[in-house]
Amino acid sequence: MNLSDIGVRAETEQQQGAARQLAAELGLAMARPDKRFQLLLTCSAKGLAVCKPDDPNMGGLVRVDFSSNTSSHRLKQQKQEMIVRAVAGKGRTRPKVLDATGGLGRDAFILAAAGCRVTIVERLPIVAALLGDGLQRALHHPVTESIAERIDLIEGDSVCILREMQERGREIEVVYLDPMFPLSRKSARVKKELQVLQMLTTEDNPDDGGQLLQSALAAASKRVVLKRPSKAPYLADHTPDFSLTGKTIRFDVYLVQK
Ligand SMILES: C[S@@+](CC[C@H](N)C(=O)[O-])C[C@H]1O[C@@H](n2cnc3c(N)ncnc32)[C@H](O)[C@@H]1O
Repeated sequence: MNLSDIGVRAETEQQQGAARQLAAELGLAMARPDKRFQLLLTCSAKGLAVCKPDDPNMGGLVRVDFSSNTSSHRLKQQKQEMIVRAVAGKGRTRPKVLDATGGLGRDAFILAAAGCRVTIVERLPIVAALLGDGLQRALHHPVTESIAERIDLIEGDSVCILREMQERGREIEVVYLDPMFPLSRKSARVKKELQVLQMLTTEDNPDDGGQLLQSALAAASKRVVLKRPSKAPYLADHTPDFSLTGKTIRFDVYLVQK
């Protein structure tokens, strides 16, 4: 999708200034009645959200909200989450994690809730803006504040950032990867969010899971955890040391010896 297909609007007069600033930062136009935009970014009192105005199946807004009911439910049962077992193993210590495919930050937030220090990397500026906005709100919410404090966000390409961190000798214990895959996931909510992520991912920036996996294996000091659909083949034919498999998704774990 071209940036010219994405507009920015303010929900009320009060958010006009913030909307204009965001449009300038992201190189986007302000929404106007004589142009149809495929996606609209909306600045509102509830935070930043994105919607697909012409698609009736995409009603509603996608925003990063770590205090929503779905997030709260996952946070309460985070210790049972398969992702936590895949990333932290059986030990009580919680590793430092680099989430190299940030997206809307749901997985990173679960890992931070379980006690991991998480650096999120997201390369799409609009997605990074949604994520940054959600993290800011989480820092000001009593339930999510202490979790959000364990998260840093970097906007950039993980392949470059992993290389830079390695060169600077910065230790990354675990790299977590969740590259986009074409299979549909069941929940309508997830589908809506994935649709937005997929729309923003263009031929100029295809998700290259294989290259990410190579970079992650070179940079991690303990393990690389890769999320896949449960029936998908191993990424780039690279067999993991073990996998944790659920109904729809699987975590392939690559142990690193350095
Ligand atoms: C399926 S989503 C991840 C969803 C995320 N795990 C969550 O819980 O919301 C994949 C995301 O990874 C990002 N991505 C893909 N390749 C990347 C790279 N090389 N560097 C940084 N981000 C990348 C995409 O832009 C997309 O937002």
